[in-house]
Amino acid sequence: MIVALDGPAAAGKGTLAKRLALHFDFAFLDTGLLYRATARHLADAGGDRADAAAATAAARRVAASDLDDPRLRREEIAQLASAVAAVPGVRAALLAFQRDFAAAPPDGKRGAVLDGRDIGTVVCPDAAAKIFVTASIEERARRRLKELRESGVETIYGTVLQDMQDRDARDSRRQTAPLRPADDAFVLDTTDLDADAAFAAARDYVAGKLAAT
Ligand code: DC
Repeated sequence: MIVALDGPAAAGKGTLAKRLALHFDFAFLDTGLLYRATARHLADAGGDRADAAAATAAARRVAASDLDDPRLRREEIAQLASAVAAVPGVRAALLAFQRDFAAAPPDGKRGAVLDGRDIGTVVCPDAAAKIFVTASIEERARRRLKELRESGVETIYGTVLQDMQDRDARDSRRQTAPLRPADDAFVLDTTDLDADAAFAAARDYVAGKLAAT
């Protein structure tokens, strides 16, 4: 059983994906970390964000052990990840890792939750459950601002909103695997939902799909 969870930045995907994985005892993969790890390899190698060959080489170096690095959470890595994610060679290089994880979830789990931008459309188009988590850009910027301030980062709402708009535009307008809901996705708008209400709606949807398989 594969649960594909897609949506824009700061819509609440990560929290929701982790809770669903815990609830159903499924494995969990945050696929954004693969793009972030690619960005980090590229930055470490002094590569230019416009150099598609260097970005593809960086993606080929990504290993599971790279994904725990706390530096991947930084905003500059998020922006660079969004840039390298538009390179078709990068997406192709990261596809096998994601599909292998979904086909054979670690620790003998009988299912997997993958969160990202193109899981329901490209990585796992046959996933039994597909959720597209979204929220208004203002609400997402407010949530991200709170998160950043809690982690000690000094910033202002306008900057966070602008970064979010830039990233949304790049993620949705790219040619390869742009961010969009799969035709058969359950669209969950969390603008006016707290984390518990969003989880309850997603849990009920997945439980219904599980019962039907
Ligand atoms: O989910 P995140 O913020 O960690 O993702 C970082 C960037 O990686 C995001 O801006 C777009 C890209 N990404 C992607 O293109 N496809 C995915 N499945 C996951 C992330």
